[in-house]
Amino acid sequence: MTDREAEVVRATEADIAGILELQAANQAENGGGLSASLPGSRIVEMMSDMPLIVARRNDRIIGFLMTSIRAMNADVPIIRAMLDAYPGSDTAYLYGPTCVDIKERGKGLAQAMFEELRRLLPGREGILFIRRDNTASFAAHDKMGMREVASFEFNGADYAVFSYFG
Ligand SMILES: CC(C)(COP(=O)(O)OP(=O)(O)OC[C@H]1O[C@@H](n2cnc3c(N)ncnc32)[C@H](O)[C@@H]1OP(=O)(O)O)[C@@H](O)C(=O)NCCC(=O)NCCS
Repeated sequence: MTDREAEVVRATEADIAGILELQAANQAENGGGLSASLPGSRIVEMMSDMPLIVARRNDRIIGFLMTSIRAMNADVPIIRAMLDAYPGSDTAYLYGPTCVDIKERGKGLAQAMFEELRRLLPGREGILFIRRDNTASFAAHDKMGMREVASFEFNGADYAVFSYFG
């Protein structure tokens, strides 16, 4: 199968089951890079306000990029800690979590999902956090042109806050 068969599009509710499966496989307790797990009901709410981008191959979800308005996830403790460190501009939104299936990494899918997001939300500020020991995520988001604007500590781990304008 070639990379050209992967499609990067705005998600629909039919994609939720695949997103939850990929999210679960990449939790920190399973050795993955994701620091929080969002329930399906919350993801559906997020999608009604803001774009959720997915990468699909043969109808399987192989990547996702969630976004949300700040008010939606300000009750998630790690998001609260990030916003205390860097609140961003008035119209800023939250970027993340994002994840690519382990077998599909290094093919530009995270980058492609970000490009689709920027096309949908031109000019707006996005804010995200990255755990400092997540080398792949640091490199990927640095390459996307995002810049580090703050730091915070949460549950004994160090995080960087990144920001960009779409
Ligand atoms: C971070 C993540 C989303 C990147 O997805 P990806 O599709 O592999 O990223 P891309 O292929 O778009 O990578 C873009 C650039 O990032 C850098 N990069 C990506 N993975 C890297 C790695 N393991 N080591 C070093 N650099 C890396 C490279 O510069 C790459 O560009 P290049 O291939 O032209 O050199 C993916 O590794 C992942 O899902 N990790 C687990 C979940 C996670 O950590 N999510 C982020 C939480 S903040």
